Amino acid sequence: MSTASTASAELGWFSTATVRLPCTAIIDDDLSFDWRFPIEMKPLLGHPVVLAQSYEVRRFIHVQAYHKYLHDICLTETDVVNRVAADIAYGHSVRKFEPDIAAQALAIIVDEAFHSYMARLFSLKVIRATGIEPLVLPRRNPLVNAYEVVAKGMNENNAALSRFLCCCLSESTFTKEILVASKLEGYDPAFRKLMEQHLADEGRHYGYFRHALTWLWDRLAESERETAARLLPAIIKVYFDDSDELIFDRNVLLAAGMAPSVVDSVFRDIERVRPAFGELPRLRNSLEFLRQARVLPHPAVQRQLANEGLLQ
Ligand SMILES: [Fe+2]
Ligand SMILES: [Fe+2]
Repeated sequence: MSTASTASAELGWFSTATVRLPCTAIIDDDLSFDWRFPIEMKPLLGHPVVLAQSYEVRRFIHVQAYHKYLHDICLTETDVVNRVAADIAYGHSVRKFEPDIAAQALAIIVDEAFHSYMARLFSLKVIRATGIEPLVLPRRNPLVNAYEVVAKGMNENNAALSRFLCCCLSESTFTKEILVASKLEGYDPAFRKLMEQHLADEGRHYGYFRHALTWLWDRLAESERETAARLLPAIIKVYFDDSDELIFDRNVLLAAGMAPSVVDSVFRDIERVRPAFGELPRLRNSLEFLRQARVLPHPAVQRQLANEGLLQ
């Protein structure tokens, strides 16, 4: 970034960061709450067997979906994005990023910590409004798995590269996902407002990580680019693997009182439909982000993604 663009990035943060906005209409004394969670974000909720359950059972399942989603925001922001942002800020990432990029990483940390805080407050609000507490929530999600598992056993430089790419892919897919969610209808208006505010910050983060990746890619040695090319499909595969998520969802249906045999049949269907709902749009978003960062055209990236059947 040039000096002029740095100044505008700083001014942009001070004028647009949602941490500076009042949380009215998201977290306040009003406990009215529409328990319906968007089915488009969790296809399980639209399964005919789930739709046929009683009001109380469906309400329980939807409220658990809220708790899980809000918990995932906390995991994503604090366990992945902010760890990567701190590495960038303090010069411990793949490269010592230029001062402007390093400074803006601290603004990312402020934003993401705030998103986690708001998500946790919203979860508490949901408990107060419904009396339904979350089931035991997993300590990890697919993104945390990708962040930790793929880098395991690598030398420090490759591990840092893996963690950085993981964060870039997450910030690109997540932004697109909340963009879609913010346009949906038929769920809690305060939650929708939370998503809209979150999106305002994530749009900026998308641009930040695209710029950081472009800056880095230009400075990587050819051997490092080839390593990155091998890492990308490995990260995508772990990040998009939601088998652990299905364990939690299964526990929710059982806790709601549904018979194990019925729950099993629901999940057989969900597994069959999963790619159409989950993987393909996210993959498209990831590839578009890599294209914008000028990573995708690299022959090794093309080859590795194609080998794994991930090029569309
Ligand atoms: Fe965020
Ligand atoms: Fe972000």
